[in-house]
Amino acid sequence: MTSNRKQHKSTPYGAYYKTDVPSHDPELTHTDRGTPMGEYLRCHWQPICLSEQLTDVPLAIRIMGEDLVVFRDGAGQIGLLQRHCCHRGTSLEFGIIQPKGIRCCLHGWVFDVDGTVMETPCEPAASRLKETICQGAYPAFEQDGLVFAYMGPPEDKPPFPEFDTYHRPQGNKLVALSAHYECNWLQVMENIMDHDHVKVLHNPRMISVGGSEETGATDYAAPMGFTEEAAVDYYPTRDGRGVCFVACRRNSDNETVWVRIVEAIFPNHLQIGSTFPSARRERRSQTVWTRWHVPIDDTNMLVIGWRHFNDEVDPDHCGREEDCGFEKLDFLEGVTGDRSYEESQRAPGDYEAMVGLRPIAIHALENPGASDKGVYLTRKLLREILAGKTPVHASLEVNDTSNSRLHTYTQDSVLYAPLEEGKDDIKLMRALGRKVLDLMAEADGVPSAEREAYIRARMDEMDGGPLVAIRNESGVT
Ligand code: FES
Ligand SMILES: [Fe+2]
Repeated sequence: MTSNRKQHKSTPYGAYYKTDVPSHDPELTHTDRGTPMGEYLRCHWQPICLSEQLTDVPLAIRIMGEDLVVFRDGAGQIGLLQRHCCHRGTSLEFGIIQPKGIRCCLHGWVFDVDGTVMETPCEPAASRLKETICQGAYPAFEQDGLVFAYMGPPEDKPPFPEFDTYHRPQGNKLVALSAHYECNWLQVMENIMDHDHVKVLHNPRMISVGGSEETGATDYAAPMGFTEEAAVDYYPTRDGRGVCFVACRRNSDNETVWVRIVEAIFPNHLQIGSTFPSARRERRSQTVWTRWHVPIDDTNMLVIGWRHFNDEVDPDHCGREEDCGFEKLDFLEGVTGDRSYEESQRAPGDYEAMVGLRPIAIHALENPGASDKGVYLTRKLLREILAGKTPVHASLEVNDTSNSRLHTYTQDSVLYAPLEEGKDDIKLMRALGRKVLDLMAEADGVPSAEREAYIRARMDEMDGGPLVAIRNESGVT
């Protein structure tokens, strides 16, 4: 008897017919060198670890299936070398960091951060061996507590993309953090374009066993307004090199609408909007979390990036810098995999849900519905890039060439848009959301320094001004 998955798709007690497990999708999920996605990721600078992980001994890491060591030498230069020494192959994780470069423990060869062999102490003084060899190395540097590397062809190295949000508002502080997930990178990246999961997975009233009081689970969805009925749309951005969701929710005053846009920039970058319950009364807010989804290998990945600390995005100072760092995040339990099995079962979070998708999610077994639109759009756009329909390098194009800044579409705003009797409110909110997204795109051409003021002024025009009074009342500036 042969099983027929399709025929028995809706057969009750039909597990017998569903035991065949098809393969995952290698095109989108595999990232070793030479794979389509691996090469695409290698076109971009990637964060690979936190500065706080660099000590006086080298750090062994694995990125996109490559075994490497990373270290900061005595001169403050970051070295990212292939892990096995090019002499006879021992691991440089046992190397000794030098004032310049690193010394292999076995025969003492010293490598500079670019892989140049500077010393071969066991060779005769006249030996020229060192001039004929280089240890494999990648360019790397530190910025605001993250170590970034470029692992693509050296001749194609792009400039590091600086998003406008890294520098605003004035005094914005970037605090680095990372979390290791035991699963494929793509399913974690896609999670943000699965907007509906927030009202379930992050709503302890719905999924916490014993309730939030017993489990201590964060009541995140309801205070933020994520449990309210929403008008959600997904749109490609940057000519298919990004995707965003636009989610609009009516506030209880029936006068205003909270418009939230979050953008994922391919291949694996993300800027997430307001994360604290203040979102619904903020006029406009900056990114609070910039993150990348970096493959360690095909069944392990790093969520790594910066939390943004500034008064504008977090006026009530709910964030805690000291709780951000290696395997640490200052909001929402279950984002890192550091809880007991019982805790994670009683109040599952993103970590459990993502790892629970299997080491590599199997798309062929999914039964997608309306809530999966964003995930399917993400995959479609990525496939188009890999197929060459969308040029890869254009994703690095800057919006303001005077300061090499890329502009962010992620935003949270509250706009005056009263409920209209007899009209379809979801339709009204969708139109408003689209208008805000169009405004963000329209403002691409405005210089970075003026872009925010331009957007604010245009939003004031859009909502006709009554929001100014609301804003003054709530004390939000
Ligand atoms: S194996 Fe590294 S110097 Fe010999
Ligand atoms: Fe989530």
